[in-house]
Amino acid sequence: MSNGPKRGDSNDVISQAEVVATAKGKITAFLSLAVFSAILGSLQFGYNTGVINAPEKKIKEFMNESHIMRWEAPMSENALVSLYSLLVAIFAVGGMIGGLIAGWWAGTFGRKFGMLINNAFGFGAAALMFFSREARSYEMIICGRFLIGFNCGLYTGLTPLYLSEIGTADIRGALGTLHQLGVTVGILLSQILGFPEIFGNGRFWHVLLGLCVVPCAIQMLTMPFCPESPRYLLIKKDREQDAHTALVKLRGTTGVSADIDEMKQEHRAQQSEAKIGILSLLKKKSLRMPLLISIVMHLSQQLSGINAIFYYSFSLFTSAGISESIAAHATSGIGAIMVVMTMITIPLMDRIGRRSLHLTGLAGMFIFSILITLSLCFTDQVAWFKIGNVVVSLIYVIFFAMGPGSIPWLIVAELFSQGPRPAAMGISVLINWISNFAVGYAFPSMQKGLGNYSFLPFTVCLLLFWIFIYKYLPETKNKTFEEISFAWKSDNILSSIGSNSSKYIIPKDEMGMVSYSSIEKQ
Ligand SMILES: *[C@@H]1O[C@H](CO)[C@@H](O)[C@H](O)[C@H]1NC(C)=O
Repeated sequence: MSNGPKRGDSNDVISQAEVVATAKGKITAFLSLAVFSAILGSLQFGYNTGVINAPEKKIKEFMNESHIMRWEAPMSENALVSLYSLLVAIFAVGGMIGGLIAGWWAGTFGRKFGMLINNAFGFGAAALMFFSREARSYEMIICGRFLIGFNCGLYTGLTPLYLSEIGTADIRGALGTLHQLGVTVGILLSQILGFPEIFGNGRFWHVLLGLCVVPCAIQMLTMPFCPESPRYLLIKKDREQDAHTALVKLRGTTGVSADIDEMKQEHRAQQSEAKIGILSLLKKKSLRMPLLISIVMHLSQQLSGINAIFYYSFSLFTSAGISESIAAHATSGIGAIMVVMTMITIPLMDRIGRRSLHLTGLAGMFIFSILITLSLCFTDQVAWFKIGNVVVSLIYVIFFAMGPGSIPWLIVAELFSQGPRPAAMGISVLINWISNFAVGYAFPSMQKGLGNYSFLPFTVCLLLFWIFIYKYLPETKNKTFEEISFAWKSDNILSSIGSNSSKYIIPKDEMGMVSYSSIEKQ
């Protein structure tokens, strides 16, 4: 899974510590409605990440049966595995496209209308997946997964953007975290509804897939009553009167001129730096290291193997010899852990710091990915290793939620200033979804080819990423952006990045670029 990027054309970075600590914004009815309605997009993303986990076997049976009815011959084992992997992973292809154009979408259609029309894709996808069973067409499920992926990709851009723009500064960070909570609740819901006694069975799997119509429908009913983002109206559209009206609704008071002034001021500050496109970002030597760090952070999120668990834990558990009913219920434990951990770790994020949380998370995942392999190898010899397999998988997920789940998205925004930030975000979105696709598509084949050792490639990746990040990622906690970006400037400077007590020196080599290999603690 990937948590939504905070991207779009505004790219606010808000210190959550400040925000959560001083939360005193008034929670009006309109604000609550707007938050509720927007959060349905996050829910949709989580739901569709988790939904194909439990009904895997039933959908495969359906694909095989449809093939027999059409061609009077069963589908070959290999064709079945690769078609099903495609069905799972094509979600990420749609997501990548949606994620990449989300900023443009939000600027062109607006946040509110942009979300409303996004539901057209949701309805289309739900219909395709729901009626696929009747039509005996697995192609329809694949198309539906692509469409819902696109829909969710757009939401990962639109929802955090809208949430960040409707609250007062003091509750903005708290609102932003609701997006992540929405995603995890969506995963949990899909897992609970996927219990064999509910929809995760041969009779109702198409209902389970088609249920993504529900968030669409509720959003269509509620979003029209929500105000458009005042920031969008004021800054993008230059409609000050409408922005004023929207603000009055959201704040529940007519005294909003201070808000308007603040937005204008913020906008002026953001404009002071020229935007840098993706190509020129790639060419800029001084930005190469932060870009590389951003990319590795996103790779570490996806190639940690977490989506092997989110997409395929059910089959992983059953292959360890656990009964289907227990496997389905254990899978929902993963969703529950994600919800609880999201609530616990987000307030910690600013106190402990991104670097330590991310490194601890990766280290834990490294150790527990080894234990997952061990428990898979020895289930035959030791009966209770079956349960051990579930337990170590759950702990592996705990470590994911601790840092790698959300920090890569925060970090990119913090490593770049306004100018290159949208381009850096774009590259990160691309890398994140491509690696999400790669894992979703390759894991079933890895399971077939490597058997009990299917998690070993992730273990190796985790180790490499840990070493890289340990060496190169600076701590960004409680740093203003200027303090962080100072370090990337190619001047010969003594910079103050790193933990508060230690200092890093960044020397310049003869090419005039920062020689990162020689960053050393004094
Ligand atoms: C497809 O169904 C046929 C007939 O029920 C069965 O013999 C065959 O094993 C199935 N193929 C796969 C790959 O599951």
